Amino acid sequence: MGKILVTGGTGFIGSHTVVELQEAGFEVIIVDNLSNSKIEVVDNIGRITGKTPEFENFDLSNRGETLSFFLRHRGEIDAVIHFAAFKAVGESVSKPLEYYRNNVGSLINILEAMKLSGVKHLVFSSSCTVYGQPDKLPVTESTPRRPAESPYGNTKSVNEDIIRDYCHAEKDINGIALRYFNPIGAHPSALIGESPVGIPNNLVPYITQTAAGVRKELSIFGNDYDTPDGTPIRDYIDVCDLSKAHVVAIRRLLDGKNKSNYEFFNIGTGRGLSVLELVNAFKKSTGAPLPYKIVGRRAGDIEKIWAETTLANNELGWKATVPIEETLLNAWKWEKKCRG
Ligand code: UFG
Repeated sequence: MGKILVTGGTGFIGSHTVVELQEAGFEVIIVDNLSNSKIEVVDNIGRITGKTPEFENFDLSNRGETLSFFLRHRGEIDAVIHFAAFKAVGESVSKPLEYYRNNVGSLINILEAMKLSGVKHLVFSSSCTVYGQPDKLPVTESTPRRPAESPYGNTKSVNEDIIRDYCHAEKDINGIALRYFNPIGAHPSALIGESPVGIPNNLVPYITQTAAGVRKELSIFGNDYDTPDGTPIRDYIDVCDLSKAHVVAIRRLLDGKNKSNYEFFNIGTGRGLSVLELVNAFKKSTGAPLPYKIVGRRAGDIEKIWAETTLANNELGWKATVPIEETLLNAWKWEKKCRG
């Protein structure tokens, strides 16, 4: 089938994608510097799939180490899925250089190393953040990108541009950017999931930690938006569904089915849920208590966004399938497992 390098493969989306790749028959080598993840994830992936992936620990923003890795594995790697990146929106505002150096620098090193070692295919982890607050919903791939709200968001936009330009210059390199909407959930085995360090920024880890009693109550950031219940709307996509999109993107590249050597796709469910709808779905599916209060808006939040997924449905033959209740139940199972 082939061997896939997964950078950031011990992270949230990375680890679930490694599982899906292995279950689809691919071999996987993970590169991760464990800056925001734990080595145990590698063994837990092995517990799920019956095969522990190869693992190397180094920093992809180090050019020398990245080139040396690719040259050492010359002829062995068929494609790269690049997840490794810093991802805290707020932190990126106070540490922009760290974000650009890490997120943009790593991509440049990887593209250079791919060329030198003859690896031709890249799938990149992008985000719906590139659309900002769109005028028209749902967003399609032809919805214009907007200037990013944060350095983190800008690294996604800039990296898309770098891949587009590099694929334009180097016709034998193929790239696919997947623009994720809001990934949530955990593997149904509860062996891997999302492990935010400190106080979670994102809604679902905050919800599960509150239900587990780690946080006193959830703060809902604003109920005065122009939405039916006043709370913001997002397209929450199950992490296992999202991971499967990477497998089909890899197959598309390896089978030469891509229509141009740089493509990008929205990866969401096509359905928008408000914060309150998500909170209610969590309570209904888990039966867990979830105290919350409404507070003021969070700076930089957009009002509403959800995906038009026809392109991914038709071109990749991919569609989100996991019902939201099941996704939230898996997130809850994972939280309880983490709390012992
Ligand atoms: N929210 C709360 N309370 C919380 C946390 C979040 O009410 O404690 C709300 C937010 O206001 C927002 C929704 O829940 O309306 C979702 O918030 P998240 O932080 O989970 O997700 P975002 O949509 O803000 O962030 C996502 C990705 C980022 C990306 C960003 C770009 O997680 O990586 O979209 O818009 F940069």
